[in-house]
Amino acid sequence: MFYHIVTFGCQMNVCDSWWLERALKNRGFTPAAEEEADFFILNTCSVREKPEQKVYSLLGRLQEYTRERPHVFAAVGGCVAQQVGGEFLKRFPFVRLVFGTDGLVMAPDALHRLASNPGLKLSLLDFSEMYPEREQALPEHMPAQAFVNIMQGCDNFCAYCIVPYTRGRQKSRASGAILRECREMVEKGAREITLLGQNVNSYGRDKYGDGTDFAALLHMIAEIPGLRRLRFTTSHPKDIAPEVIRAFGELPALCPHLHLPVQSGSDRVLKAMGRKYDRDSYLRTVDSLRRACPDISLTTDIIVGFPGETGEDFLQTMDLVRRAGFESSFSFKYCDRPGVRACRMQPKVEEEVKSERLARLQMLQEKLSRQALKARVGGRATVLVESRNERPRTGEMQWRGRDGGNRVVNIPAESARDLTGKEVEVKITQAKKHSLIGEVLP
Ligand code: 5AD
Ligand code: SF4
Repeated sequence: MFYHIVTFGCQMNVCDSWWLERALKNRGFTPAAEEEADFFILNTCSVREKPEQKVYSLLGRLQEYTRERPHVFAAVGGCVAQQVGGEFLKRFPFVRLVFGTDGLVMAPDALHRLASNPGLKLSLLDFSEMYPEREQALPEHMPAQAFVNIMQGCDNFCAYCIVPYTRGRQKSRASGAILRECREMVEKGAREITLLGQNVNSYGRDKYGDGTDFAALLHMIAEIPGLRRLRFTTSHPKDIAPEVIRAFGELPALCPHLHLPVQSGSDRVLKAMGRKYDRDSYLRTVDSLRRACPDISLTTDIIVGFPGETGEDFLQTMDLVRRAGFESSFSFKYCDRPGVRACRMQPKVEEEVKSERLARLQMLQEKLSRQALKARVGGRATVLVESRNERPRTGEMQWRGRDGGNRVVNIPAESARDLTGKEVEVKITQAKKHSLIGEVLP
């Protein structure tokens, strides 16, 4: 039987879909293009309005599609499924499975049952008590880059955020299980591991913790022979421990890049968001990181137009972005999410004002990003090659990878030698708007 999977949202969802594909393969299912699929899996995201709307428009399209192909069915998983739940089963007759974040572990068996039993519909929406350990489903040969979940859920309840409702309370995974998975991945060819969780810096600080904190976990994983690069995402500034900051200077495998979502540069707004740090302490953390690792590249997330944000608050955000010197950032207009505290906060910022602030912020970021990339020209970098693709306009082939700082580096493909998954030393020759160009050093 053939299936087609569509993934929205964060790296956690990408990682979940990847596991699901492996587990389905073990049960004899085959991935296929849309037109050939017997069933669809939608792994959904509800963090903002836009990704959620995309789920509904895809479901609408599938409704039309399944009218002529009544045997085709769909499963909806992830954050929107967790939130909307059984409503999907009622509203869309072709949806026969809904699964939440903890229900994912049971989804492969559920799909197996659905495939042989056309009358069946199933719902897997309960949160489990512990971190739901998954069946091991690694392929024989791992891609060079791998993701490993170290926890599930979040306890922070920032005023704007739906995640604690869709992913549940924080549940740390046992350190032994994490280490085993990382080791096996490296033995099978992985060279870079990204540790994933909603707030990895509070790893171990919940009732499921086994005494290992995040810094200790980083040290243990960084020692795995053959592992060249270690990354993690995502971090809450209030929880980043001095030991983790120091690790950037101590562990050669730990890449000099940190995504540290600041959300706002105004103390008033940070307080209303419930972030539990202020701009000074954030900037002090940035200083400590640069002292521990002078070459560290910092990236962030920013929300503009949070309820009550004034022009002055926004200028504070612009100022902080300049001071922190982010190499890139994801910025969003605030939007209400069902059930979160900020829905009830007033006054809401007008849509045009939000758009105007977002445009100004993004213009500033473009300038900073360009400067940061330009500063790399003439230097050297180690690039882990991810893929080969065509250069836009010229059509020439090039290799694409990332340096330790997570900057995209394109390398003209001069020889036929396959560089995918290889680490190459390059000289940076040019800076583009969002990427670098490098030449392989002899
Ligand atoms: N409105 C706008 N942006 C949001 N984010 C989370 N919730 C909201 C919301 N309600 C952004 C934050 C977060 C990123 C993943 O999405 O910046 O870090
Ligand atoms: Fe989207 Fe957040 Fe769920 Fe990830 S955890 S899929 S970003 S809502």
